[in-house]
Amino acid sequence: MSQDIENSITQAVLAKAGQGADPRIKQISQALVRHLHAFIREVEPTQAEWKAGIDFLTRTGHMCDQHRQEFILLSDVLGVSMLVDAINHRKDEGATQSTVLGPFYVDAPPEAPLGADIAGSMRGAPLLVQGSVRDAATGQPLANAIVDSWHADESGFYDVQKLESFGGLCGRARFRTDAQGRFHFWTVKPSSYPIPDDGPVGDLLKAQGRHPWRPAHVHFMIFADNHSTLVTHVFEQGDEYLESDVVFGVKHQLIAPLEQHGAGIAPDGRRMTQPFFRLTYDFALAPAQSQQAA
Ligand code: BEZ
Ligand code: FE
Repeated sequence: MSQDIENSITQAVLAKAGQGADPRIKQISQALVRHLHAFIREVEPTQAEWKAGIDFLTRTGHMCDQHRQEFILLSDVLGVSMLVDAINHRKDEGATQSTVLGPFYVDAPPEAPLGADIAGSMRGAPLLVQGSVRDAATGQPLANAIVDSWHADESGFYDVQKLESFGGLCGRARFRTDAQGRFHFWTVKPSSYPIPDDGPVGDLLKAQGRHPWRPAHVHFMIFADNHSTLVTHVFEQGDEYLESDVVFGVKHQLIAPLEQHGAGIAPDGRRMTQPFFRLTYDFALAPAQSQQAA
């Protein structure tokens, strides 16, 4: 009898899944059943292992609240976020490559003028970030594009992880490019950091013998009229975790040097009494129709 069920259960569920549903729901439901059953047939879990799997997912759900999304973290460390991203950006030829959004973006971040220092109470060596935004197809500069940027400080924490000790939002802001599509701002140099690993995703990483670290980076989300929104980071050249980013987010094109400068007059005219770093990156956005075509 149980041999019969083993042989027939997948077909029986496939016949039911998606009955009466719209075609896309049916496709997704049936693929889910096919792949889940194939996984079980391959792994042949014991009852105790199956319960451990259910417990893991239950703990993952319980870990989620308005500040923490453990399921996204799970998707990130399993490479699923990067796979979904890759599938959705196949046609963005010539555009700057995208990578994971991560959990620390804040909707409608505080606006700041070009040249502002957004470090607030964050600690670290001063960093001048400068760059431009252009159309990937024509190379034309994109004026008035919105550039959102956010990053961790030298302690490896984002403002939203320690709002009380940072005294509010810092190390993040929204800028608008000038008539030549340029932007620049001051902040502090971020360091590499471990993703939140005190929950079930951290347990999974330990069980898999993996570290939780991401290489140092600055996040960008860039919006321009009639262009696909770009979600990306720029990673610090030379970081020890570039080859082993826990969320598989590093792309060669997104690595840039943080040039070291001595005290003196900075490229934007600011008088610096201490050494500082400079990150320069030029972004190219795909025209919106290339995303629609995809
Ligand atoms: C981040 O870079 O902020 C991030 C991305 C994925 C998971 C955790 C953090
Ligand atoms: Fe990050």
